[in-house]
Amino acid sequence: MKTPLYGKDYVSLTDYDAAEFKFLLDMAVELKDKQKKGIPHTLLQGKTLAMIFQKASTRTRVSFEVAMYHLGGLGMFLSANDLQIGRGEPIQDTARVLASYSEGILIRTFSHQEVLELAKYSKVPVINGLTDDEHPTQALADMLTIYEEYGTLKGKKLAYFGDGNNVAVSLIHACALTGMEIVLACPSGYQPPAAALADFEKMKQPGASLAVVDDPKAAASGADVLYTDVWTSMGQEKEAQIRIQALKEYQVNGDLLKLAKPEAIVLHCLPAHREEEITDEMIECAQSRIFQEAENRMHAHKAILAALL
Ligand code: CP
Ligand code: NVA
Repeated sequence: MKTPLYGKDYVSLTDYDAAEFKFLLDMAVELKDKQKKGIPHTLLQGKTLAMIFQKASTRTRVSFEVAMYHLGGLGMFLSANDLQIGRGEPIQDTARVLASYSEGILIRTFSHQEVLELAKYSKVPVINGLTDDEHPTQALADMLTIYEEYGTLKGKKLAYFGDGNNVAVSLIHACALTGMEIVLACPSGYQPPAAALADFEKMKQPGASLAVVDDPKAAASGADVLYTDVWTSMGQEKEAQIRIQALKEYQVNGDLLKLAKPEAIVLHCLPAHREEEITDEMIECAQSRIFQEAENRMHAHKAILAALL
């Protein structure tokens, strides 16, 4: 049976409307429930996903591979260094070749443009497993985690701290689609790109609002979710020291949690640099849902795969 999203790419949440995003979220809830009850959900028997990785990954790689296995298909890990892309084979040729062997292509790379190019030439759906600009598979798992906590997303306040990076951009998109309030506390020079704020205006559903502030306390005040990500993303290693200096006031710690709602939860996409963007205490505290969030990557990815492939 084909879903309404059959054949669609998952490159950016800007390509999704609220109903489509909700479809994925509902499917993730259903597939997680099936797995917990031991009910088989082999929706992709005989199908394969080619998974190109140009950057390191623990969660995205393993969760997609296991998701394909649980769905009855095969996830093929392909390190870009071992593929001919690493020796300069054009992406448009790679796209057509891999699409002739598999029912979907996942890619994690630096350039967002490269993923758009891959999608243009691939006849099978392309899934963005993170670029320098966006991390849309992460945002679906994050929304699933918040939904599990509160039973709703609409009107919930998510406060994001630190670097307005790829993870922040996809959270902006997801909050727009789900009617959430998002406040990003970022110092000057590290605010999310203007394009993401413009996307939010176009995508926002009733209840959604966005603010970018420089005071972390103002962002934390009354929040339902405190969220942070690394200060130095993959590819920015040379800037690490400058970034630590610029972002050190934006750490998620016990003082910030006190300003949030008493039942607020703490999220981080991982990997974390403990005692930099988040304290050890916050990762391990009773209000942390960070490892549930990581697990939810797999359930969310199953929904994306089952819906698109
Ligand atoms: N959060 C996330 O994408 O983790 P990995 O880099 O380990 O895939
Ligand atoms: N912003 C981080 C996310 C890692 C999952 C990075 O791009 O490295």
